[in-house]
Amino acid sequence: MIQSEQQRRAYLEAMGIDVWLPRDHVDTVDEAVADTEHDVQPTDVLDWPELRARVAACTRCALHEGRTQTVFGVGNPDADWMVIGEAPGAEEDRRGEPFVGRAGKLLDEMLRAIGEARDTVFITNILKCRPPGNRDPKADEAAACRAYLERQVELVNPKIILAVGRIAAQQLLGCDVPVGRLRGKLHQFGDTPMVVTYHPAYLLRSPSQKRKVWDDLCLARRIVAERQA
Ligand code: URA
Repeated sequence: MIQSEQQRRAYLEAMGIDVWLPRDHVDTVDEAVADTEHDVQPTDVLDWPELRARVAACTRCALHEGRTQTVFGVGNPDADWMVIGEAPGAEEDRRGEPFVGRAGKLLDEMLRAIGEARDTVFITNILKCRPPGNRDPKADEAAACRAYLERQVELVNPKIILAVGRIAAQQLLGCDVPVGRLRGKLHQFGDTPMVVTYHPAYLLRSPSQKRKVWDDLCLARRIVAERQA
């Protein structure tokens, strides 16, 4: 007889036997439970249209109550570069596209400086729904959205991830180190090389940091070139 993990745990618990699981196993089981409760198929088998539809219908966290629409991501599904930001703002929520406000215009310029554009890279966020008042994402919101982002990374299979800003960097790396100490070096997100840089909204307030962002972009571009060779 094939027992599901849930059934096995329920039987053991009913027999008074404590079930101890390693931390990442607990995550996997919890995620699978979340998937079967809310969704028909697990997220990691979805193709682009299925993933887009899943995100559009998502009610996994309370942010769905306040959104105008989800903001899935935009760009080339086979991009070498994947840019990951924090969460949609008011303008992105209205238009359904990431980075379309003032910070987005600066991101476009950053991309242009390295010979890329909105439609040659893939741009998305940690969260697909706007947090009210543009507050920071909560841990449970980021966790609820995580499987969507991971599937996007798998499907794009980029040569580099550029994490822009503190929230994206810390969420992707699972740490609380300040961006100033994460930028300027190479990280990994799973098997994908990752570079961290300042968020364009921060650059609008602190333009003197643009030089450092340029250095980060050059580092990322070198990695892409190495992986193309
Ligand atoms: N800031 C982000 O991090 N993402 C957006 O989509 C817009 C602003």
